[in-house]
Order: sequence, then C-alpha cells, then structure tokens
Amino acid sequence: MKTSLYFFSGTGNSLIVAKKLSEKLRGELIPIAKLWQKDNITSQAENVGIVFPLYFWGLPALVYDFLEMIDLSSASYIFAMIVSGHGRTGAALSQLNQLLLKKSKRLDAGFPIEMPSNYIVMHDLPPKDVEIEALRNSDERVAIIAKKILNRKRRKLKKETLAFIGNLGNKMFRERVNFTDKNFYADDNCDSCAICEKVCPVNNIKIIDGKPRWHHQCQQCLACLHFCPQQAIQYGKDTLGRRRYHHPEISWKSMINQKEALK
Ligand SMILES: Cc1cc2nc3c(=O)[nH]c(=O)nc-3n(C[C@H](O)[C@H](O)[C@H](O)COP(=O)(O)O)c2cc1C
Ligand code: SF4
Ligand code: SF4
Repeated sequence: MKTSLYFFSGTGNSLIVAKKLSEKLRGELIPIAKLWQKDNITSQAENVGIVFPLYFWGLPALVYDFLEMIDLSSASYIFAMIVSGHGRTGAALSQLNQLLLKKSKRLDAGFPIEMPSNYIVMHDLPPKDVEIEALRNSDERVAIIAKKILNRKRRKLKKETLAFIGNLGNKMFRERVNFTDKNFYADDNCDSCAICEKVCPVNNIKIIDGKPRWHHQCQQCLACLHFCPQQAIQYGKDTLGRRRYHHPEISWKSMINQKEALK
C-alpha cells in the first residue's frame, strides 16, 4: 500500500517530523512548496499524510490552498500531524475535515505534536531547557504516532474548543499574509550572502543591490528571518534582540530541498 507524506515547514520542525515519520512508514516525502501553484495535483497513494506547522490556530495559507487543489480519490486513509508551539491543534483538525468533506473524504486521524515555537514576532523563544525538552520528547511521540498510522487507526476527531474563533482568526491571517512582508527589512549586519533568497519556500525574496527585497507572496513562515546567519532580518521592532531558532538537525540547505528536489 503506497504512503505519501505531504509537508510544509518554515524552520525545520515539520520537516524533521515528516522525515522521521516517512522513514518509519516507508512513505514518499513530498514538499507542498513544490506543488502548491500547480493546476493539477493528483495523489496516487492509498495512505496520505499531511504535516505542517500551526499558524494562527489553523492551516498555513499555502497548505489550505494545496488541499483545496489536490485530487485525493485514491486515498482510503488520510492523517495529519499538526506541529505547533503548544502541542494544540487550534481549529486545524476541523479545517482539514471541512476541506476533505468537499472531496467526499474525511480526516481519519489527526495528531498534535509539540515543538519549540518559532513565532518571535509575538514573543521570545521558549527558554533553552524547554526547547531541548520539546525536541527530546518529539522523537518518542513520532514513534508512537507512526505505530498508530501503520495500524491505520481511526480516531474520532476531538472537538476543538473555540474552533469557531480559531477558524475566523486563521481566515483573517490567510487573507492578509502575503502582504505582511512589508514589515521585514535587513539591517546593517546583512552581508549579501543571499541565503534568505534561497531558503524562502515560495521565492518571495530577491537580492537587489545587495539587500533582500520582499515581493508580497509571503507565507510568514519566518525561514528568512531565522536562517539568516547574520540575524540581520527584522520584523518591525518586534524581533530586535530576540534569539533565532531553527531545528538543530535542519540546515538552510535542507530547507532549499523543500522547493527543489528532496534528497
Ligand atoms: C505565522 C505563525 C503563526 C503561528 N501560530 C501558532 C499558533 O497559533 N499556535 C502555536 O502553538 N504555534 C504557532 N506558531 C509556532 C509554530 O507552529 C511552531 O513553531 C512550529 O513548530 C513551526 O514549524 P516549522 O519549523 O516546521 O515551521 C506559529 C508560527 C508562525 C510562523
Ligand atoms: S540571509 Fe541575511 S545576511 Fe544573507 S542576504 Fe539575507 S539578510 Fe543579508
Ligand atoms: S519571505 Fe520569509 S517569511 Fe515570507 S515566505 Fe519567504 S521565507 Fe517565509
């Protein structure tokens, strides 16, 4: 039985989860960033998984658009891993289920997984010991979830408290997200290395006159900001002086594979 795992990631948490899960499931790993603007996307797999970070209580805009587009006729078991800063799902499970119902499918199982929160636009990173603990626990959690998926366990979707409000907040976020990049700038520490341009999953950055310029297709994944080796990228004043983060096993080169070919 063929298993395909579609994933999206900004700072590597969802990428490492998807990688480790695909090894255990012997599944094919497919980056959503490579597919989302294609007109016809058809999955050939019976088991289909979707792995992504929680953004404002719900789906990243790109994941939402991708799920509206993909033909999942072949799928008989659909599961999701929601990678978030607090191990909650917000309104993501009900959003996924709604999208799948439109295709006469449903979400058979949805698993939250806690990873360090990267959203330094609103708050500092968690303390280092909390970060290390979350990373340590995640491997075990992936192993437990993989066993459930291999047994094609179906889980009654838990009612998400305040899903209605979460859904509304997430919808507002998705509608505005492309233009939020007007808050990004590179400060004087920028040395024109162009890693931000390369790492952006949606090619939203071009280096012009030695500095990054953002072109209003942003997903707010924060890859550019967190992977900049000089910590030169800021989001307004909110990120000044805040520690940066990316998953310790994921380099900017691994992130590039998300939009090129995965190694
Ligand atoms: C735009 C944005 C919104 C986020 N919203 C939430 C949220 O609502 N709840 C939460 O727990 N974490 C939130 N986070 C944190 C991420 O879900 C979390 O750090 C995740 O592990 C990042 O995965 P990645 O490394 O694959 O990008 C948000 C992060 C970003 C960039
Ligand atoms: S990654 Fe940082 S240092 Fe490199 S070009 Fe972009 S902003 Fe400048
Ligand atoms: S510009 Fe930065 S935050 Fe926006 S999608 Fe690209 S890497 Fe992510």
